[in-house]
Amino acid sequence: MIGVFDSGLGGLTVLRALVDRFPDKSFLYLGDHANVPYGDRSSAEVIDFTRASVEALFAQGCKLVLLGCNTATAVAARHLQQKWLPSSRWRGHNVLGIVAPTVEAATQTPWAVSSPQYPQKYNTDVVAVFGTTRTITSGVYPEEIRKRCPRVTVVQQVCGRLAGAIEEAAPEAELERLVEEGIRGLLAQTNGMPPHRAILGCTHFPLVEHLFRRHLPPFTRILSQPEVVADSLEDYLARHQHYVDGDRGRSLVLMTTGNPSEISARARVFWPEVTAFELSAA
Ligand code: DGL
Repeated sequence: MIGVFDSGLGGLTVLRALVDRFPDKSFLYLGDHANVPYGDRSSAEVIDFTRASVEALFAQGCKLVLLGCNTATAVAARHLQQKWLPSSRWRGHNVLGIVAPTVEAATQTPWAVSSPQYPQKYNTDVVAVFGTTRTITSGVYPEEIRKRCPRVTVVQQVCGRLAGAIEEAAPEAELERLVEEGIRGLLAQTNGMPPHRAILGCTHFPLVEHLFRRHLPPFTRILSQPEVVADSLEDYLARHQHYVDGDRGRSLVLMTTGNPSEISARARVFWPEVTAFELSAA
């Protein structure tokens, strides 16, 4: 069973792509609705909440947990993988993040290659990253993109209230206003030059991708993070089959630290056939 974690509903955009890609695998999703949104929290809080949720998923039998959340990945993934896991009681388990596959896709360069390869050496595109405050201040996207594509201009834009508004099922007009505000902020940094590529660096944002599409010119390629993550997990599992050995297959359980009936109702707005959430003990 593969665990997928997000601060709230955003990770469902990733989960949905994974369920489509791996119809014979079982998934357990955990949304930390008791603490969402993570985007404006301190790094220490994000690390604590993420670790607690990862442990809850391990305790339920997931050997592999994917952080379906940019904020948790940007702030906590490295700490959990390098410091916490090796000294924890969860040996033989692993945590993956979603920043690495996104950077690989944005730079067309494998993660393991951390220097510019031809033709990326000459790539002078403008890449936009939209995200939460915590993801943007972590600087992880510009840092990792520039290692591989030093001539690319990476422009970051905080869309501070957008994830929260999506969680609260704010009206479409309000969501559009927030998306437009983010794009305006980005263009103010580029003297009005639209980006060649845009990373929606928050798993909530694919839920309003149509609004980003509406306000960005057709030549801006919006990177689909759920698809990119599914590609990357497929490749990972081909090399690390043992994490899913014994998977009895084809099941989907959704858990929340919040109110299950409220969260189930909100989730169905954008994933009509999704199963109901259950209360997590975490
Ligand atoms: N979905 C999350 C992300 O990808 C976080 C949103 C939030 O909790 O602020 O960044």
